[in-house]
Amino acid sequence: MKKFLELISEEMGKAFEAAGFQAELGKVTVSNRPDLCEYQCNGAMAGAKMYHKAPLMIANDVAEKLQGNTVFSEVSAVAPGFLNLKVAVAFVKEYLREMREDAKFGLEMPEKPQMIMVDYGGPNIAKPLHVGHLRSAIIGESIKRICRFAGHEVLGDIHLGDWGLQMGLIATELKKRHPELPYFDESYQGEYPKEAPFTISELEEIYPTASAKSKEDADYKAEAMEATYQLQTGVPGMRALWEHIIDVSVTDLKKNYANLRVEFDLWKGESDVQDIIPDMVEKMKEEGFAHESDGALVVDVKEETDTKEIPPCMILKSDGAALYNTTDLATIVDRMEKYQPDKLIYMTDKRQDLYFEQVFRCARKTGLVKPETELIHIGFGTMNGKDGKPFKTREGGAMRLENLIREINEEMYRKITQNRSMGEEEAAEISKVVALSAVKYGDLSNQASKDYIFDIDRFTSFEGDTGPYILYTIVRIKSILSKFKEQNASTGSGAKDVEGISLREAKSESEKNLMLEITKFNATIEAAYEEVAPHKICAYIYDLANAFNHFYHETKILAEEDRDRQSGWIALLMLTKDVLETCIDLLGFSAPERM
Ligand code: ARG
Repeated sequence: MKKFLELISEEMGKAFEAAGFQAELGKVTVSNRPDLCEYQCNGAMAGAKMYHKAPLMIANDVAEKLQGNTVFSEVSAVAPGFLNLKVAVAFVKEYLREMREDAKFGLEMPEKPQMIMVDYGGPNIAKPLHVGHLRSAIIGESIKRICRFAGHEVLGDIHLGDWGLQMGLIATELKKRHPELPYFDESYQGEYPKEAPFTISELEEIYPTASAKSKEDADYKAEAMEATYQLQTGVPGMRALWEHIIDVSVTDLKKNYANLRVEFDLWKGESDVQDIIPDMVEKMKEEGFAHESDGALVVDVKEETDTKEIPPCMILKSDGAALYNTTDLATIVDRMEKYQPDKLIYMTDKRQDLYFEQVFRCARKTGLVKPETELIHIGFGTMNGKDGKPFKTREGGAMRLENLIREINEEMYRKITQNRSMGEEEAAEISKVVALSAVKYGDLSNQASKDYIFDIDRFTSFEGDTGPYILYTIVRIKSILSKFKEQNASTGSGAKDVEGISLREAKSESEKNLMLEITKFNATIEAAYEEVAPHKICAYIYDLANAFNHFYHETKILAEEDRDRQSGWIALLMLTKDVLETCIDLLGFSAPERM
């Protein structure tokens, strides 16, 4: 379906043409004076220079051509040359009717779907998750869903950090505690145990302990580096131990991400592409892209048009070791080979902006991607506490995702049980659903690149621009719909099946306003997709929820005696609910049945 603004602009364009001006002048925008009109067209002003005619005269000519038009119910030419517009209620109704019948509410599907890969989450095995990982997961999940809804083929890849020094550190500490384990016996020939020699909580304690020791003890660090080297060169005991670490961590990560309703299609990691590195590096050398610099191997990526210094992309350190860059480049090789993506989207903290600029340039320069492959990095800002500093737990420690979620769940539970009588179990279930909306909406409603303040109090509020407010609105609609069903079932007055109900022309301003808000759906999703910007969906549903609540407060829906009007409203409510629920699904959360 065409976008609403597009349709009315076309209509306006025809009027410009009929009056002897070019159609392009007929661009219509949402009014910036909602007290005067719904939409406006400023084309007469632009036309004045072209046609050497006073803008008001042009506007008058155009307005005249729109007399009796079925799209606009009001057209007025006002000084100095604006065209103030209201659209016809029948036209709005017809647009919504078509939306209702379309599976995607009027969002047009691409002629040729793209293959898009979204690299997000990016946790590091055995290291605790931090706020950056939370943001990456929330934003990435939403972007993945938006791309998919927009009709593309999408794969989300977690890109685990599973190949670094942390592995050697864990092995070293474990060896100190349990030297008798077969993993450390180089002459061991048997099968390694199936059971991991640690639980997730032990693992979570081992890593920080080892990390702290390595900072104070150079020998310890050397040992850890040696263990890392052994793992990376495939020593069987180290490899077997590493597999246990991965297994135990991934099980835990899956649980954590499932609680956040974050789902990855691929659980690949840095380790998966290590075999690709030697050939890739060799090729870069052969083709003359990589050269030595202070013993290291680098690819120059600066360009003449640069206004700031872009340092070379380092491929191998002077000791021959691969780096974070190298792995990312090899991952690109792997992805291009296996999935032929048209677009790669990465989600990390914006402090990695320069890093990705280097990696992308290097990938292009060395031909790892096609010239038309899009490489996009979404760098997000910091999640701060109320003190404006990077978010810490109440105890002042680094955030543990689980604890953060628990804290929000508890706060939500407190709020939900405050004025409601509800069973404990149900309240706990509902609290979880609503808490997730609080965290995700709180994050996604900001433009990703901006820092924001994580304010549990505000995020969990049922009023204002929050997730719980949106859910509250949806639940309110659900409740009206089910009461309506009940009412009609008991009086036996037909209309038992709400599905058969159709929309009516708006009779009140608040009703029309709600309808006009709904029409913006396809334009909103298209913009969110093209600009990789979930916050646009948040802004849309906030306006939509406000428009609905305004309408609701002015309208006695269930008590209405005019059956025809009432059923029109019910149809409008159903559409509002469907659109809101589709949008929150794109943001990665859902609404309960009641709250
Ligand atoms: N593991 C990395 C970190 O914790 C994030 C990975 C992001 N993705 C990537 N392809 N580099 O910072």
